[in-house]
Amino acid sequence: MKPIPVASADVTGNEEKYVSEAIRSSWISSSGKYLDQFEAEFAELCDSKYALSCSNGTVALHLALLGLGLRPGDEVIVPSMTYIATANAVRYCGAEPVFVDIDPETWCIAPDAIEAAISPRTRGIIAVHLLGHPADMDSINQIAAMNGLWVVEDAAEAHFALYKNKPVGSLGTVGTFSFFGNKILTCGEGGALTLNDSQLSIRLKMLRGQGMDPRRRYYFPITGYNFRLTNLACAMLCAQLERREEIFAKRNAIFDYYTECLTGIRGIGFQPCAPWAQIAPWMYSVTVDPHEFGQTRDDLIATMKEADIDSRPFFYPLHRLPPYVKSASKQGQPLEVTNQLGATGLMLPTYNQLSFEDIDRIVSVIRRAASSSTPIRRAA
Ligand SMILES: Cc1ncc(COP(=O)(O)O)c(C=O)c1O
Repeated sequence: MKPIPVASADVTGNEEKYVSEAIRSSWISSSGKYLDQFEAEFAELCDSKYALSCSNGTVALHLALLGLGLRPGDEVIVPSMTYIATANAVRYCGAEPVFVDIDPETWCIAPDAIEAAISPRTRGIIAVHLLGHPADMDSINQIAAMNGLWVVEDAAEAHFALYKNKPVGSLGTVGTFSFFGNKILTCGEGGALTLNDSQLSIRLKMLRGQGMDPRRRYYFPITGYNFRLTNLACAMLCAQLERREEIFAKRNAIFDYYTECLTGIRGIGFQPCAPWAQIAPWMYSVTVDPHEFGQTRDDLIATMKEADIDSRPFFYPLHRLPPYVKSASKQGQPLEVTNQLGATGLMLPTYNQLSFEDIDRIVSVIRRAASSSTPIRRAA
């Protein structure tokens, strides 16, 4: 049987042609027509005045936090259920992430939990649009405004997801994106920031480009970084943007077919979708209730692996990982939804080339695992 990976990049359009063109033009570093074109198109698609490309999604977060003036001793409120880059970017600035729980209706940061975590040191909130589902931005922005905080939207996994018909990345102070190989749009490694504030955009460009003064070449008034993306990577992104409707149609069809096939299998739960949300179809995700299903999520991963099907557990809750466990233990919020989802969440193979026959094969392995196991009685 052919192995089914959990993700696979689809660069079958004009990616090669545009990259070759960029090579022939010798614009291979961090300026060139594809870089300008990508930034202009991405800004427009995200309904933002500015889009800045950068090396990857982690750098996009780091750059956003540097631009917002995050300093040692500050705190940033972050969901514990996210990829570690969200919290690491806070630490890169010498600040501390304060972990809060997620909302079971969105799997994104819970607005009530944010309010309870605000301290005199809090400077901002990172709202992660987890697994393509937008966070409840109106509630988050309201809490931020009442407390003088900024909001960074981590939209690494949520390209063009809509919150009340508005694209993510246009709703907070700054939006950040990743174009890693498993993302909906990819250039291998890449990232972007979206924003509307012209002063902040000038500062972010300076920080991205070694701190160089935009009006005085090779004069550096601040200590900056080399966080730029190449014209070659942007050539790939331009080709991906050209195909965005086809890519979204394919992935939405994959999502719909998974839901149709998995409905009714006892113990399999589905990603929630709030009435105001349009999810970006990143990784199709379910929960495995071991009591109903008869196997744990990790058992199911192993069963699928035996059938040459790769899958991925949800992120380990960050408050339980070595770099954060000590500081998080002093923060004291119960993170029940995060802990529960961290133990039961499962990402199934999702990529443009995945066929309905592949999904039939994946679902039949899951169905067989459920029917060959006996539901486990819950502890009284
Ligand atoms: C929520 C989230 N934030 C940030 C990142 C970091 O992006 P990158 O891998 O491009 O550095 C990722 C990447 O997978 C992510 O899922």
